[in-house]
Amino acid sequence: MNRSSLCLSLTGATITENLQEIEKYNAYCDLYELRADYLEPLSISALSSFPEQVKKPVILTVRRAADGGHFKGSETERCGILRRSLASGYRYVDLEEDFQDQKTEQAAEVSGVTVIRSFYDFSGVPADLGRRLRNIKRNPGEVIKAAVMVQNTQELLKLVELALELKVRDGWGNRIILGMGPMGFPTRVLSTFLGSSITYSSTPGRQAAPGPVDPQTLVDLYRFPLIDENVRIFGVIGNPVIHSESPGLQNRGFSLRAMDDAVYLPFQVDNLEAFFRLAEVLDIRGVSVTIPHKQGVIPFLSSRDEGVEAAGACNTIVWRDGLRCGYNTDISGFTAPLKESMGGAIPAGLRAAVIGAGGAARAVVYALRREGVEVLILNRTVERAKELAAVFGCSYGSLGEQERIADYPDLIVQTTSVGMNQEDPEYDPIPDYSFKGGEIVYDIIYIPRLTPLLKRAVQSGCRVINGWDMLAAQAGIQFRLFTGQDFPREASSGIADQY
Ligand code: ATR
Repeated sequence: MNRSSLCLSLTGATITENLQEIEKYNAYCDLYELRADYLEPLSISALSSFPEQVKKPVILTVRRAADGGHFKGSETERCGILRRSLASGYRYVDLEEDFQDQKTEQAAEVSGVTVIRSFYDFSGVPADLGRRLRNIKRNPGEVIKAAVMVQNTQELLKLVELALELKVRDGWGNRIILGMGPMGFPTRVLSTFLGSSITYSSTPGRQAAPGPVDPQTLVDLYRFPLIDENVRIFGVIGNPVIHSESPGLQNRGFSLRAMDDAVYLPFQVDNLEAFFRLAEVLDIRGVSVTIPHKQGVIPFLSSRDEGVEAAGACNTIVWRDGLRCGYNTDISGFTAPLKESMGGAIPAGLRAAVIGAGGAARAVVYALRREGVEVLILNRTVERAKELAAVFGCSYGSLGEQERIADYPDLIVQTTSVGMNQEDPEYDPIPDYSFKGGEIVYDIIYIPRLTPLLKRAVQSGCRVINGWDMLAAQAGIQFRLFTGQDFPREASSGIADQY
């Protein structure tokens, strides 16, 4: 079975530092790349004793500044370092496509060191990358490597298409195709699928190349060792998206359900048309959709559920027989924890105040009206509140009319971004409203778990629900749409505790 090896790039200033990193991550890694260009001059003399201390294959790399490396010396010095070290047990040496020194090439051959013939581009994916890679090998035994910065979704598509084309033409392996930067991230996780024999990782805070992923995250979160060429790919599209909590939730769900053939990845997308082509190339089975694409994906859908139509937003796409089926699980995800806190059902005649009138408020108001709740919408810009109220038959007002919440005292739902990532009490969107203690207060923000508004509500004796409960509920509904199986509750508990 073809499987990519997981390589950790070592960028410590001393050999000792690098050995410490190895000790920390050894359980996750198959091999190491010693970036000798990061070593301080005194440590260079210890290069020869390094491979025998590691006990796993080591790639020796002395990268020039021109290729994004740290080596400042002359080319003669660089070749000297390489030549002196190659006979001491290195498995691979990284030599660039324009590397010129015959003696170093010979030293590698004599010592049985495999050359990784590499091409780097930190400015993007060159239009002629395919041609360059096809002609890059000097000897049949070489591994070819392209590490290129992925600047946009179109470039990711191009890189993935090239990798798959080379896999068909030349077979699996002896090749490394790596997209740098957050947009290139999927190529690091999907290296086996793309035909790459090695994927590269870095230790946190020490990224040798942009596109940070450490070995533990690749293994524990992205299930790297399980991914083979038959992997079923899911993901989340957004921009930015690298900090999304969804991969944690969905991949844990896969693990707990023993679905070893599935993986869920973040796709940072700036061009939906290119993404939908990529989805076909990768045979993506389902995606979550987050900001700013919830509206933008709608024209690409083959079908839309009632929630997508009503909320004007789609947060889930499932591919079925080539059709793109759109859903809005935010709506049921919002209602589920509310129903749970009310003993299973929302009582008739409930009166609720919704703070905000943006996209999120629209889904919330639709969900509440569907349950027969009477709704007051208060928004900073009263015009937007008025428009939303007209669509769903609600009352409305401005944030300056907070006293009106007293007429809608059962439930207060906060849908604005006020309080996001904030602890300070001034980030409370309704500071003039005094809680009576009987309200249920629901803030759809999930970081922090207790926003300034929720903190004040708890202090007044109110029951509170936060955005994490909603996120986990909607992720569960997505999981069912993606896999046909129930989402294991334990998949969300561990993560919630981190906050
Ligand atoms: P989303 O899709 O997350 O709801 P949105 O459609 O941009 O995003 O809506 C943001 C909501 O947060 C709006 O209700 C916005 O109020 P305005 O319509 O007046 O812009 C509200 N909001 C954002 N920042 C705010 C602030 N500092 N104070 C009060 N409301 C704010």
